[in-house]
Amino acid sequence: MATPRKNEKKTDAVKAASSEPDLGFTGESSWQYEPSLEGTDHLRFEKKYELFIGGRWVAPKSKKYFPTINPATEEPIAEVAEANAEDVDAAVRSARTAYDKIWSKLRPAERAKYLYRIARAMQEKARDLAIVETMDGGKPIKESRDFDVPTASAHFFYHAGWADKLDLAFHGRPYRPLGVAGQIIPWNFPLLMAAWKIAPALACGNTVVLKPAETTPLTALLLAKIFEEIELPPGVVNIVTGAGATGAALVAHSDVNKIAFTGSTDVGKRIQGAIAGSGKRLTLELGGKAANIVFADAPLDQAVEGIVNGIFFNQGHVCCAGSRLLVEESVHDLVVRKLRDRIATMRVGNPLDKNTDLGAINSKMQLEKIRGLVAAGEAEGAERWSSPCALPKKGFFFPPTFFTNVAQASRIAHEEIFGPVLSILTFRTPDEAVEKANNTMYGLSAGVWTDKGSKSFWMAQRLQAGVVWANTFNKFDPSSPFGGYKESGFGREGGRQGLSSYVEVG
Ligand code: NAI
Ligand code: MG
Repeated sequence: MATPRKNEKKTDAVKAASSEPDLGFTGESSWQYEPSLEGTDHLRFEKKYELFIGGRWVAPKSKKYFPTINPATEEPIAEVAEANAEDVDAAVRSARTAYDKIWSKLRPAERAKYLYRIARAMQEKARDLAIVETMDGGKPIKESRDFDVPTASAHFFYHAGWADKLDLAFHGRPYRPLGVAGQIIPWNFPLLMAAWKIAPALACGNTVVLKPAETTPLTALLLAKIFEEIELPPGVVNIVTGAGATGAALVAHSDVNKIAFTGSTDVGKRIQGAIAGSGKRLTLELGGKAANIVFADAPLDQAVEGIVNGIFFNQGHVCCAGSRLLVEESVHDLVVRKLRDRIATMRVGNPLDKNTDLGAINSKMQLEKIRGLVAAGEAEGAERWSSPCALPKKGFFFPPTFFTNVAQASRIAHEEIFGPVLSILTFRTPDEAVEKANNTMYGLSAGVWTDKGSKSFWMAQRLQAGVVWANTFNKFDPSSPFGGYKESGFGREGGRQGLSSYVEVG
């Protein structure tokens, strides 16, 4: 570990931030660290990754491969197979055979043993999983190491516990698994989303065809290597890599009983249309535009930490990101100043550096989307502040940014930016806070900061969001169901409620 050294001189960012009246935090007390890079020399990437079908690594019938790159360096890491409809068909057939012949016949306690083995193997390989997650997707190593990988493993542990106790989950009603689940996941939490999807499906007795996102396929493929190693029966989980067309082929396959999708609202709507009338079960976890609501009586320093965590966690690539700050008018200026001082100390850069707070934006396309929406915010008259931190020359990076004077009707107040960009609005009364918070097509999450428990409950009852955090933000636990309503989708993942997405209850 690098030894922290007190910085003699203020950085530019801190200088800029401290041109305002002194709040007792001038940046003098912030530490500068030597780079502390996570080692990668021991990793051996394959040149080409095949599809994982029926427990074997199979070359794609499409004969096509695509590169996955490291968004922090723009360098390719490996080539990955691109599954076409024929490949998807082979994967679904193998999942069906495994369902009929093995998995649905296994005693629940045996299924639990496999889930425990997966969870433990993930813990054993935690370091490499975290490094690969960071290289393939751009998120800071401290997040992949301390959040993504442990939470993914915890999800398998939690569902291992349910596998032989399902009789207790549905109030004594009879239940049966659905069959083959087709699961399509995004790039913001690649391994964690794979765990959220696979663990409950297997615990409930289903088999799986999973399609990871095209920019971040590698940790799902490492998970497949774990399945091989723990001798999960062939075909119980199949992994088909590829882009939207591969996902669409999975959705269209006639022998899939359930589709679980996390991603954009646009694609979610398209999937819903595609399977209408087919009898396939569906859960959708889509976008969000969460309000983080700060009352004047809140512990403001704690709230500022929560705001920062809410929007800058994982570069804002979070569907439940607290991307709209609603702050009570009387403390607006104070909160904005505290926020600016805090953001100015954040380190943006090499995601493999253990001191990095904000890593790379996941793809060039996403960076362009963020830039476009930020330009729209400026054009619509909102006032932009971006941290004056230096950005690496190569790779896709965007500085932590917020907007003040944001009009309710502006695009940055409504559209999901999915980047490190916060829109700040004000309110005067709790009723106005509720009205503004609910003025969105989404309904995934919200946060309330106040000293009064009664006010948190009052707000939580009125906020249209699947999750409401009180005096905290972005907290997750496998036992706590997550999901939204309105255009954020339907169905829950995690907890007892999440199990019902993978069974037919009689
Ligand atoms: P996307 O919705 O296109 O991608 C998510 C997954 O769906 C990927 O695996 C992709 O290959 C697959 N997919 C794409 N088209 C499909 C189709 N027609 N049928 C089946 N599967 C399909 O999201 P994208 O383009 O990567 O990001 C666009 C925006 O979506 C982001 O800027 C962000 O606002 C939002 N988003 C939301 C996420 C969430 O967690 N709710 C995650 C990722 C993106
Ligand atoms: Mg990549």
